[in-house]
Amino acid sequence: MRRRWATGCRREAVRLGAVALSVILLAACEGSAIPEPAEMPEELFAGEATFNANCVRCHGERAAGTAQGPPLVHKIYEPNHHGDFAFQRAAATGVRAHHWNFGDMPKIPEVTPEDVRQITEYIRWLQRQAGIN
Ligand code: HEC
Repeated sequence: MRRRWATGCRREAVRLGAVALSVILLAACEGSAIPEPAEMPEELFAGEATFNANCVRCHGERAAGTAQGPPLVHKIYEPNHHGDFAFQRAAATGVRAHHWNFGDMPKIPEVTPEDVRQITEYIRWLQRQAGIN
């Protein structure tokens, strides 16, 4: 009798313990939940619009690439490999095909250096969202 009580009690304690532990774990997880995809900061809207007007037909929505051009959200375009100057040069002089087989990129005379600076900020943000730094 006593033993049975003890076993039941122990079982109950284990159950309560598990509940308490989950409550603690849930509380702990609250702060470290996987974040929703971040909302784009407003200061990048202009860069996105200029990108969509001048680059999207080849580099694709959110720079994910198309049949005409490569994704810019790609490891080879990380800041250490293709610094911000590569974006200015690409727009100003075009790009001779060297990484891919899409052919050359023409120069894009419609964009100013300030436009390209904003586009670059937008692309860098997309890259960071994809874990490319
Ligand atoms: C007509 C298609 C087309 C358009 C429009 C276009 N690109 Fe490109 N771009 C390409 C292709 C193709 C490549 C890849 C060349 C290679 O390395 O093979 C490229 C490469 C690049 C590169 C990498 C440069 C390097 O040094 O390797 C950057 C940066 C770039 N584009 C930025 C832009 C920006 C910014 C715009 C808009 C202002 C733009 N592109 C518009 C086709 C295009």
